[in-house]
Amino acid sequence: HFFPVSYIKEFLDNMAMYKLNTFHWHLVEDQGWRIEIKQYPQLTEMAHWRDETIVGHARDSKTYDGIGYGGFYTQDQIRDIVKYAAERYITVVPEIEMPGHSCAALAAYPNLGCTGGPYEVKKTWGVMKDVYCAGQEETFGFLQNVLDEVCELFPSTYIHVGGDECPKDAWKSCSKCQQRIKDEGLADEHELQSYFIQRMEKYLSAKNRKLIGWDEILEGGLAPEATVMSWRGEKGGIEAAKQLHDVVMSPTTYCYFDYYQSENKTNEPLAIGGFLPLEKVYSYEPLPAELTEQEAKHILGAQANLWTEYIATTNKLEYMAYPRVCALAEVVWSPKPAKDYADFRKRLDTEFSRLKMYGINYCDHP
Ligand code: ACM
Ligand code: ZN
Repeated sequence: HFFPVSYIKEFLDNMAMYKLNTFHWHLVEDQGWRIEIKQYPQLTEMAHWRDETIVGHARDSKTYDGIGYGGFYTQDQIRDIVKYAAERYITVVPEIEMPGHSCAALAAYPNLGCTGGPYEVKKTWGVMKDVYCAGQEETFGFLQNVLDEVCELFPSTYIHVGGDECPKDAWKSCSKCQQRIKDEGLADEHELQSYFIQRMEKYLSAKNRKLIGWDEILEGGLAPEATVMSWRGEKGGIEAAKQLHDVVMSPTTYCYFDYYQSENKTNEPLAIGGFLPLEKVYSYEPLPAELTEQEAKHILGAQANLWTEYIATTNKLEYMAYPRVCALAEVVWSPKPAKDYADFRKRLDTEFSRLKMYGINYCDHP
């Protein structure tokens, strides 16, 4: 879902209050492309728009709402937000997803896919089999041109390229992708994904930026300088840190604020699934015990993820975020011995008054 500039600013204000200093901004998805790119006008003429949206959970619903939905940020708006964030000591890290989760871009530029399309901006949620073709140069040309504009807009050291949940089906039956595998001496489609990410890393490195991606970028070999965002548990982060790569920890087990926060799901607004109560967030220790002191230096920090497939309003967004944000802030800013959940619970009453005063919605029965 799309949130207006005015709300992004409010969200940044609230982040600053909790000393959260990095805003990871997911701007590209199967269901909508959200950033203006001057060289590719179709992205904001049609790729930001889906004809309708599934009602209820994608897992078991067959009903669509019949209502068109879209939205994107102009480059002027993005510059404004980046500046607004910087004034609050927050760095904005943009995410431009590749090679998966890119149906919206393919719908606008079908020549970037393995079959040439037609593709559609998706109306339901999940993992889609249509992905960028890794066998043709047009794909890399497009993404490099997009990243040129992205790097102009975002001064952040890190540029997030996604890399998660990329099914290999299309690549398996694409002659161009298979030819690439042969030409580059790659073992399989996983190494093709690694080739893809490594090319993008070279491109970003030449621009003095660092590539960061979800832990799937470990598959088929990590790009030499890549930073890993560990989401499928802590395993990917541990593996990357052992290879002396930098890591941001964001495991589903402690950091997915789109998960349910009460045991009784029937009394909760629809969520993607899972169960992540406040106490579990508070119990998180971002430095895995299995790492040596040297390896642990590569853990840059932790972040929460707030995916908005099932979050269409700011009210619900805040309900999902708070008070779990309060717990995360304390986790990432406290030395381990200083953490005390009972004490945190006592202070939570004051925190609820503060949230109320600022007009921030929250779950009052965490
Ligand atoms: C993810 O949640 N797919 C990174
Ligand atoms: Zn292909």
